[in-house]
Amino acid sequence: MPSTNVAVVGIAVTKFGELWSKSLRNLLAESQFAALEDAKLSPKEVDMIVTGNMLAGELSGQTHLGAMASELLNLNIPSYRVEGACASGSLALSAGINAIKAGAANIVLINGAEKMTDIATNQINSALMSASNEETEGFQGATFCALYAMMARAYMHEYSLTRKQLAMVSVKNHKHGSLNPTAQFRNEITVDQVLESTLVADPLTLLDCSPISDGAASVILASEEVARKITDTPIWILGSSIATDSIALHDRKSLLEMPATAIAAQKAYQQAKISPEQINITEIHDCFTIAEIIAMEGLNLVEKGAAGKTVEEGMTYYDGKIPINPCGGLKACGHPIGATGIKQVVEVAKQLRGEAGRRQVANPMYGLTHNVGGTGATVAVNIFKRN
Ligand code: COA
Repeated sequence: MPSTNVAVVGIAVTKFGELWSKSLRNLLAESQFAALEDAKLSPKEVDMIVTGNMLAGELSGQTHLGAMASELLNLNIPSYRVEGACASGSLALSAGINAIKAGAANIVLINGAEKMTDIATNQINSALMSASNEETEGFQGATFCALYAMMARAYMHEYSLTRKQLAMVSVKNHKHGSLNPTAQFRNEITVDQVLESTLVADPLTLLDCSPISDGAASVILASEEVARKITDTPIWILGSSIATDSIALHDRKSLLEMPATAIAAQKAYQQAKISPEQINITEIHDCFTIAEIIAMEGLNLVEKGAAGKTVEEGMTYYDGKIPINPCGGLKACGHPIGATGIKQVVEVAKQLRGEAGRRQVANPMYGLTHNVGGTGATVAVNIFKRN
C-alpha cells in the first residue's frame, strides 16, 4: 500500500579509513547486518535493496553490487546499484523513499559503500574525475581539489574570506572527528597546521581536503504503518529533493555558489514545511573546506558572504548555535564516495535519537543532510524529524 510518510528505522556505519583487511564485500556485509540488527528485523522482512556506489568497477574490479548485496542476505528480492558520483548514497535513499511512497515496498534497505585505498592516489583522482566533464576539465588535468581551489580563490576575493577562516572549518571538523569512534581521523589540529600542511592546489592544503577512504553505511526505511509497529524512535523523512546543474564548473555563471544546492534545499524546506532556522543539526558535504562555506549559504543557514565569520565565531561547533558536521564531516570522518550520503543520514538519525555520545547536539528536533556530486552537478538535500 502506498505510504505518504517514510521513516528511518535502522542505521549502521562501519569504521571509515584505510581498511586494508576488508574488501568491499566485507564492508557491505558488515553494515547491512548491523542495520538489520539495529532495526531488529530479519533479512526476510526486507522487500528491496538499493546500493549507492561510484567506483567499484574501476577500483575493485567488481560491478553488479545489487546482486551482491542481496546475495549476502541470502535473498532473491529486487536489488540494484545507483551512481551519481559523490551523491550516489543519496540517490539510493531517494529510490528507496519513492518505492515506499509508491507502494512497491514496505521495508527497503539502503546501502552506500566504497573501497578506495587499495589504489594509488593519482589513479583514484583520475577515476574521480570521471564525475567532471572529461572532455574539458578531466582532459586538462584538473582534479576536484583544483576545481574547488578555484572556487575558494573566487570566494575569498569576493567576500574577503580569510585563509584562516577557511582553515577553521577543518579545525572544527577534526575536533568533531576526535569525538567520533568511527571517524578516519581522530586527531585535533590547529589553524597553523592546516596552513603549513602540503599545498595541494593553491590555496587548499592537505588539511583542507577530505581524504581517500574505505567504508560503508546502511539505513533501513519503512512505511509509516510498519515504522509505528516496529520502533518507538522512527526518524521521519519530511523532505527529500535532488537537483542537477552543468557537469563542468566552467559552464556555471558564478564560482561563488552551487545553484543546485539552493534549488534542492528550497524544495526540501517546502516539503518539510519548515524554515532553515528550525534545523538543529546539519551534515554538509565538506569535500574541501570551501565546500562547507559555500553550502552554508546555499542552504540558507547564513546570509551570502557571512559563512566565514560564522565559522570564526565558533557557531558551527556541535555545541554552537548552528551545529555543522558533528560526526567530523567528510574531512575528518572520511569520504568513501558512495557511503558518504548514507553516513550523513546515519549521523542525523543518531543525533535525533539522542545516541551520538560525546558529540551529541543538545535536544535536536530537525536535521538536514546535504550531499554533492562533482562540483555541484548533483545535489541532494534531505530533512528529518524525530518522532
Ligand atoms: N587529511 C588529513 N590527512 C591526510 C589526508 C587528508 N585529506 N590525506 C592523507 N592524509 C595523511 C595520510 O594519513 C598520511 O599520513 P601518515 O603519513 O601519517 O600515514 C599522509 O597524509 C600521506 O597520505 P597519502 O595517502 O600519501 O596522501 P596523498 O598525497 O596520496 O593524498 C590527497 C592526499 C589530498 C591528494 C588525497 O587525500 C585526495 O585526493 N583527496 C581528495 C579526494 C577527492 O577529491 N574526493 C572527492 C571530492 S569531490
